[in-house]
Amino acid sequence: TKRKQIVAGNWKMNMDYEQGRDLTKAVIDGLQPSDALVILGTPFIHLRNVASIIKDISNLKLAAQNCHQEESGAYTGEVSASMLKSCGVEYVILGHSERREYFGEKDELIAKKIDAVLGQGMEPIYCCGEKLDVRESGKQNELVAEQVKTALFHLSAEDLQKVVIAYEPVWAIGTGKTASPAQAQEMHAHIRSLIRDQYGAEIADSITILYGGSVKPGNAKELFANPDVDGGLIGGASLKAADFNAIVDSF
Ligand code: G3H
Repeated sequence: TKRKQIVAGNWKMNMDYEQGRDLTKAVIDGLQPSDALVILGTPFIHLRNVASIIKDISNLKLAAQNCHQEESGAYTGEVSASMLKSCGVEYVILGHSERREYFGEKDELIAKKIDAVLGQGMEPIYCCGEKLDVRESGKQNELVAEQVKTALFHLSAEDLQKVVIAYEPVWAIGTGKTASPAQAQEMHAHIRSLIRDQYGAEIADSITILYGGSVKPGNAKELFANPDVDGGLIGGASLKAADFNAIVDSF
């Protein structure tokens, strides 16, 4: 495929400073020569250190898990895109369902964060996905279309091409319930068709769309084998280097 294949780890709020350093080194030790791009999404406190540990490894990159939409100012406790950039961050996970659920983030706000990240020359990993009740009522395609349009469709084609999309059905996150390969493929194809309608086929075909939600070494291969699934966003299994590296080797 012409698209970038990516496996991104999202450590969430796990790992103290030393554990983060050790996990990074263990991931490096287990990294095979691979076409996939590997990204570590760490808490803020690790960013500078992980950046320096991974700096010579060309297919290993660093992501933050959030940022503030403003450039600077009186926003106690927040971190701006330019601050992340200055630490060696190249990707920022935005709109994760946990940000939406516990911090009230909506796609209008996420759109501003995407602009802030792109404005610093970094690449957003934009998360979307439906909750269980929406899936059960069969409205997941409409819901995800609404999310994607609100968060992304103000972007120029050039900027859109810098966005990685992660489809994460909320009912599959941390639950051990994975979307079936067919469910993942269907939604990824739907997302790609939305982009095709707005931006054209060439751009739609160039966008990396990751699947997230209970990806494990045992199910990664069949998920990644789908034509529109370009990799994964990995939560729990990214905290063990052996599991994470096995997922990286699943293309
Ligand atoms: O960002 C990662 C997703 O929330 C998936 O988490 O692999 O623990 O289900 P999980």
